[in-house]
Amino acid sequence: MSMSTPTSDETAAPRRERLEGTVALVTGASSGIGAATARALAAQGAAVALAARRKDRLDEVAAAVRDGGGTALVLECDVTDEVQAASAVAQTVGELGRLDTLVNNAGVMLLGPVVDAPLSEWKNMVELNLLGLLYCTHAALPHLLAAAEDDPRHVADIVNLSSVAGRFARNGNAVYSLTKFGVMAFSESLRQEITKRHVRVSLVEPGATATELASHNRSEILENIRSQFGQTMEAGDIADAIAYIVTRRREVTINEVLIRPTEQER
Ligand SMILES: NC(=O)c1ccc[n+]([C@@H]2O[C@H](COP(=O)([O-])OP(=O)(O)OC[C@H]3O[C@@H](n4cnc5c(N)ncnc54)[C@H](OP(=O)(O)O)[C@@H]3O)[C@@H](O)[C@H]2O)c1
Repeated sequence: MSMSTPTSDETAAPRRERLEGTVALVTGASSGIGAATARALAAQGAAVALAARRKDRLDEVAAAVRDGGGTALVLECDVTDEVQAASAVAQTVGELGRLDTLVNNAGVMLLGPVVDAPLSEWKNMVELNLLGLLYCTHAALPHLLAAAEDDPRHVADIVNLSSVAGRFARNGNAVYSLTKFGVMAFSESLRQEITKRHVRVSLVEPGATATELASHNRSEILENIRSQFGQTMEAGDIADAIAYIVTRRREVTINEVLIRPTEQER
């Protein structure tokens, strides 16, 4: 760190770098937080690759990005399949030229008691929230490391979506919490491994956000979730935080952001 007198440039407010000339891949971009994030990063100038299974919904998000003057690539893909996850990364780099930002957002939350839980729900969460994230990260890392050595930013980003449930395990969210605690552990270890190579790893932990996430639960569980639902945030609130994270200057990493609706106590 320089101990010399700061120049007027150094004393100015921190610069907010825009994302022109960069490429972002957002998984789970067909709805909720992923769709909002893709639009937010495109608004900052990034070309965005949109990955999820529902092509019609991805097409809608891509149209909104293009209407705003941005560039969007639609990737119909199931990230729980390692070949499809690797192919999504390869197509992004093949068609958009590089990869600077990976947002591992695709996720599923299937709540309820452990006793008598359908094992298929646990498999679904582990395969998507953990393995999907790992497959995308593994395929993306060589490209992110290359981008971090290159113009325009000499830094690259991985943003992993965890949850308040990744900080606090509660009765009824055992396996969802297990997956999100795993995302936290993986993110922190990876951060230590690559931070000197200027690939930043950030963890975002939202509280209740109005999206389609809860709708995949069994009806009796869904009723229970709805009865406990209080104030919710909007997907755009989380997208805002992600856009903030990836537009910091090269010397600054936002490691972790926990965001709750103001009225959410736990
Ligand atoms: N909403 C909340 O309250 C909240 C709170 C904390 C954390 N989070 C986290 O935020 C992330 C986004 O969730 P959300 O709330 O925006 O829910 P959402 O609207 O249900 O979005 C989930 C996204 O994941 C995609 N997806 C599901 N399975 C996939 C697969 N096999 N391959 C590729 N994409 C897949 C879905 O698209 P397709 O169905 O088209 O594939 C969808 O775009 C999740 O990781 C979630 O755990 C949300």
